[in-house]
Amino acid sequence: ILANEPIYAGKAKSIYKIEENEKEVLVEFRDDITAGNGAKHDVKSGKGYLNTLISTELFNVLEKNNVPTHLIEYIEPNIMIAKNVKIIPLEVIVRNIAAGSLCKKYPFEQGQVLKTAVTQYDYKNDDYGDPMLNNEIAIELGLATEEELVEIKKLALKVNDVLKGFFDEKGIMLVDFKIEVGKTADGQIVVADEISPDTMRLWDKETKDVLDKDVFRKDLGDVLEKYKIVAERIGCLK
Ligand code: C5P
Repeated sequence: ILANEPIYAGKAKSIYKIEENEKEVLVEFRDDITAGNGAKHDVKSGKGYLNTLISTELFNVLEKNNVPTHLIEYIEPNIMIAKNVKIIPLEVIVRNIAAGSLCKKYPFEQGQVLKTAVTQYDYKNDDYGDPMLNNEIAIELGLATEEELVEIKKLALKVNDVLKGFFDEKGIMLVDFKIEVGKTADGQIVVADEISPDTMRLWDKETKDVLDKDVFRKDLGDVLEKYKIVAERIGCLK
C-alpha cells in the first residue's frame, strides 16, 4: 500500500487509502519532526516508531475508559490502521499547567498550576496560523455545530481526566495536549490523529525534566531519548 501515493500527507504523518475498504485508512507515522508550523524541520530515525507505539498505547488506555478513538490496529513498527473519519479542523487543546503559547499570550507564569483544566480550540489552518476560535466563529465558519462543540469539549475533558491520571501513576505530569476529533461514517465523534510527545507537554514529576517536543523546539537536548523515556515509563517499550 505504501507504494501508492498518500491521500494526505501532513508534517509528520501520511494517510493511505486501503483498497476496497472505505471504512478504514492506514496512518504512517514518519520520522519527520517540525516546529513553528514547519519553519524548523529535522528527520530523527526511530521517531515514527516511538510515536506510533505511544499513540497506540494511549488510544488503548482511552478505549478502556470508554473514550471512543479512531484506533483499529497497530502494525509494527510505524503504522496504525484507523477508522476513516472526517476530521473536524479544530486543534482541541487542554491545559493543566501554564506553558507554551498560554504564557506568551497572557500573563501566566510558566509552570503555574491552573485551578481548573483550561480548554481552547484553534482553527487547524496553516494559512491563517491556527488562530484561536470561539464558539460563534467556529459555527459561522461551519466547522461544527453548537451541539458538536459541547460534545467535543466533554470528550477533551474526559481525555484529560483519563490521561492525567494515567501519566501521574507513571511519574509524569500532563502539562497540556492537543487532540483532533473526527466524525465516523455513522456520525460518532471520536478522538483521531495522534496523541504523542509531539502533541503533549510532559514533565517528569520529580525533576520537571521536559519529555516532549519542547526539547526539539527549544534545543534542550536529544529529543528521541526523551520520547524513549516516555515509552518506557508507560510500558510500551521494553
Ligand atoms: O503552543 P501551545 O502552548 O498552544 O500548545 C499547547 C499544546 O498543544 C502543546 O502540548 C502542543 O504540543 C500542542 N500543539 C500541537 N499542535 C499544534 C499546536 C499545539 O500538538 N499545532
